[in-house]
Amino acid sequence: MTLPEPVLTKRIPCYPHGDTSLRHVVTYQEYVATGGYKALESALDMEPTQVIALVKDAVLRGRGGAGFPAGLKWSFLPTVDGVGSRYLCVNCDEAEPGTFKDRLLVDFDPHLVLEGIAIACHACQLDVAYFFIRGEYHHQARVLERAIQEAYAAGIFGMQGLMRGKSKFAVECHLHRSAGAYICGEETGLLEALEGKRGWPRVKPPFPAVKGLFGRPTIVNNVETLAAVPPIIERGTAWWKSIGVESRFGGMPSWGPKLMGVSGHVVRPGVFEVPLGTTLRSLVDDWCGGMRGGKRFKGAIAGGVSMGVLGTDQFDAAMDFDIGRACDVLGLGTACPTIFDEDTDMVAVARNCARFFMNESCGQCTPCREGSGWVYKLLLRIEQGDATTSDLDLLVEVASSMGLSEGTTICGLADGTNWIVRTIVSKFRSEFERRVKPTFVPLHVAAR
Ligand SMILES: Cc1cc2nc3c(=O)[nH]c(=O)nc-3n(C[C@H](O)[C@H](O)[C@H](O)COP(=O)(O)O)c2cc1C
Ligand code: SF4
Repeated sequence: MTLPEPVLTKRIPCYPHGDTSLRHVVTYQEYVATGGYKALESALDMEPTQVIALVKDAVLRGRGGAGFPAGLKWSFLPTVDGVGSRYLCVNCDEAEPGTFKDRLLVDFDPHLVLEGIAIACHACQLDVAYFFIRGEYHHQARVLERAIQEAYAAGIFGMQGLMRGKSKFAVECHLHRSAGAYICGEETGLLEALEGKRGWPRVKPPFPAVKGLFGRPTIVNNVETLAAVPPIIERGTAWWKSIGVESRFGGMPSWGPKLMGVSGHVVRPGVFEVPLGTTLRSLVDDWCGGMRGGKRFKGAIAGGVSMGVLGTDQFDAAMDFDIGRACDVLGLGTACPTIFDEDTDMVAVARNCARFFMNESCGQCTPCREGSGWVYKLLLRIEQGDATTSDLDLLVEVASSMGLSEGTTICGLADGTNWIVRTIVSKFRSEFERRVKPTFVPLHVAAR
């Protein structure tokens, strides 16, 4: 099979594992020498509305999890009122278990993301950008600090206006290191954290585009979403649309290349840039060198644990934005699957994921705060062989009742518990049934 040429990650070299020096990071000079910041120059020759129209036409779907089209989100901003700042928040919280694709972009090619930030700020007339980075990403924070300094020194950001005054519109860019909580990746939890408060998601509406950071119009975009903007400007939307697939259900297309990070029981885990629509089997066999130890494929976490699992018969699932509807998972999520081989204990996987969500619940909503702990305890009981069949039914009932999609919580964290538990139980039910005892029915009740 001929593997496609990478576009987003073209400047990313291989680096020895564990090397945390900055010598592998692409510098400003190296970035410019390979055509970097040319897209910003072209974007500044366009009216902001033209840039938004281009990104809208490309149907660039958000790479942070929900797949919401970036151009459409940008067009929700109110017109500039001149009263105060308007913000761009770059979401690099990346705390989803098994997800490590944004880290790679920042690790090696930070200027690609900074160029995307500058273009987005021009398009949406946002004068302050906050790069919100996961607390544990110490090395990546150093990488970004240097890259932001280089960008200021080169006049990309700063008072003189974008690109050494090519545009009169000036943008400031700051790095903000998260104090460390999964919930701070949720866009309004992120805004609260940036404001110096506890990362408690806000009730929506109002959406951040209207009332976001410090009550001002704000766009929150994922790192990879912004990194995709320069190539779209540079190569045009026809090129973008030539990669990826149309919707299988007559909905929005899944166009463009996508970073997919594969972990788990494969020979060579890693992050790969592939066209949307690539099958899970191709990711494992063509990109990751196959299953580790020649074992058989048993299942996979679809794209971050909050999306649920793909079953043994879903190895050929196409990794596009229709995967949710096609394969009974929540969605494509971060497109970072974790692969399980035939020896994996799926009850233990469910218990482990439930513990994660229980620990990360911010506690505002009762179904999430209480339900996630309840689900974890039930799973522990099942794993230890102390549960009955009615516990299994109760587990599914409790998990199914929580989440944004059920209308019972403020944010989507609880949907993670719901989907991971429900899909593991439905796709690997026999493993659970083997672990539970029949529910005891007293003789006088059974006789009725
Ligand atoms: C619990 C939770 C955690 C999230 N964590 C992240 C994250 O780490 N990074 C991210 O980009 N989006 C995350 N999201 C999605 C964001 O809320 C938001 O949709 C996204 O940053 C928007 O960017 P995009 O449109 O470019 O994808 C999370 C959502 C939820 C509910
Ligand atoms: S769903 Fe959970 S994490 Fe989200 S706001 Fe409610 S309690 Fe907090």
